[in-house]
Amino acid sequence: VQNSGGNLTGQFGFKYGYGFLHEDINNSGDGGIYAELIQNRAFQYSRSFSVSTAHYFPVNGASLSIQELEEPLSKALPASMRVAVGNGTGKTGFKNEGYWGMDVRQQKYTGSFWVKGAYEGTFVASLESNLTSEVFGSVDVPSKSVADEWTEHTFDLTPEKDAPNSNNTFSVTFDPAGVSGGALDFNLISLFPPTYKGRKNGLRIDIAEALADMNPHVLRFPGGNMLEGLTNDTYWDWKNSIGPLKERPGFQGVWGYQQTNGLGLMEYLEWSEDMGLERVLAVWAGLALNGDTTPEEDLQPFIDDALNEIEFVCGPADSPWGKRRAELGHPEPFTLNYVEIGNEDWLAGYPGGWDAYRNYRFPLFYEAIKAAYPDIQIISSSATTDPENGIPMDYPEDALGDYHPYREPNALVDEFDRFDNDIGHIIGEMAATHPNGGTKWQGQLMPYPWWIGAVGEAVSLIGYERNSDRIPGTFYAPVLKNENRFQWSITLLQFAADPKMTTKAVTWYCWSLFAHHPITHTLPTLSNSSYGPTYWGAGVDETRNNAMVWKGAVYNTTNSSYVPVSVHFQGVTPGTKANLTVLTNPGGDPFAYNDPFTGVKIVNTTTTILEADFGGAFKFVMPQLSVAVLDTDVG
Ligand code: AHR
Repeated sequence: VQNSGGNLTGQFGFKYGYGFLHEDINNSGDGGIYAELIQNRAFQYSRSFSVSTAHYFPVNGASLSIQELEEPLSKALPASMRVAVGNGTGKTGFKNEGYWGMDVRQQKYTGSFWVKGAYEGTFVASLESNLTSEVFGSVDVPSKSVADEWTEHTFDLTPEKDAPNSNNTFSVTFDPAGVSGGALDFNLISLFPPTYKGRKNGLRIDIAEALADMNPHVLRFPGGNMLEGLTNDTYWDWKNSIGPLKERPGFQGVWGYQQTNGLGLMEYLEWSEDMGLERVLAVWAGLALNGDTTPEEDLQPFIDDALNEIEFVCGPADSPWGKRRAELGHPEPFTLNYVEIGNEDWLAGYPGGWDAYRNYRFPLFYEAIKAAYPDIQIISSSATTDPENGIPMDYPEDALGDYHPYREPNALVDEFDRFDNDIGHIIGEMAATHPNGGTKWQGQLMPYPWWIGAVGEAVSLIGYERNSDRIPGTFYAPVLKNENRFQWSITLLQFAADPKMTTKAVTWYCWSLFAHHPITHTLPTLSNSSYGPTYWGAGVDETRNNAMVWKGAVYNTTNSSYVPVSVHFQGVTPGTKANLTVLTNPGGDPFAYNDPFTGVKIVNTTTTILEADFGGAFKFVMPQLSVAVLDTDVG
């Protein structure tokens, strides 16, 4: 018997969970899945990132400068951009280059900007080519602007035609003759294309759809390192991420750029709601990336803050923070079954942070959350293989660890049985990141998921899923990358301003295949072969008429002969049908990847209906480096 089987997987919505961690890295949030098109929309800044007019350009002789007015737009947004008119005639103003361009199509864009300064006339909001200055669409926005007050201007803009490429800008211009005092002050300049499921302040459709196509079940947020912040006074404070955009000060990102906080807690909750995802909410636990640890005597406010955050997510609409959520448009509590205490505590602050985590931070957060929310499953941000060998307390039986394997494919395969005899964990972040032994790209991190890495990941995914009584789910990380900012590791999806660049990596195909064939219970398996080069696990999905599912991968780096596979599900009679899907890389290069720039895609998917033979077995062959699922639910 190769796995005990019969276990209720059940923890994430009663299906084994495939999903991803999200944090803003690689411009995956701002300039990524968050659909805002204007870069530097509110002149936000922080200790690490200074305020500037970056990404704006003057139009027709205007001059642009940052002002910190006595009466700013809001306390959260103290800086704004002054647009002083030039000497020329004709409309003047500014344009914004977006996040490395803007996709302009014949669709409705929704925009707004705030202005202060006396102006009689109209503003013109336009989308135009940065190369030819061709205007694809523009709209007149009558001025409401007055001398002493900030006024918001909103507009819809539908271009008359699609732009041929994404090298486009958005401009706001106005007539200098109508301006008193020679200048106007602008802030919170925003432009959204249509968004995923039509959400205001929502997600970019092509990226969200590519994620949703994977059929994910779980989302862990917000980070990752982003949650921790660089220092103890610059962590990701959820309160700064909710409410009207003008009340959000932005966030000193930990990945080299200032962030808007436009993709905030409410947006994460709506994202998970719109994709039907179970949530793992990570709460800040008094540790920053520089190793700063909050002393025990100062911790209570942060515990209270975590409790308030949880109440915001899942408290009733008449609770203090549930009321706030209701005011923001969601009276119904969101479901919240999993809370993680911090992120990678064993790593970021070791040894100070780790000791503090084990000795007081984890226990204090755990006790407080359990007392208020006994049904919430608490997750520790460490694994049994991390320093000090374990999650930080000898209790609690119901606590899960969090394991983050970023590995070479061989190492992922070696870990197939990693969880056969261990306590429960989530695999809160994982990816094959390095080539085996540095045989290509000199052992550096790979630029894109590559085929042998994807198959190595598939082996470890099977290893996790067959232990799913204790390993409820696995999260890919980092999940998204804007091609204009590559940070440390490969991603599941790549994109740029032009949606044609949005590319599902080879890994996406394996995760998607497994996620599309969920199970509610594992099944015990017997075999006359041992694991390697073929690895497998089996399960049943009670929600699909007890469909029997076999998942397998052949990880053979040296022998190209086909592996004969015979799968016999107990109780399956001759003639029963099953759907076999096999993923291969016909080109054979283990380093091949899906290339966003050439459009080359290397994964071949074949789907066949098989019939159980007279002995009740499904027989097929799998080539070297391949991944397969056999599922008796043939629809
Ligand atoms: O996924 C990128 C980073 O890897 C995460 O922010 C962190 O948790 C891990 O070390």
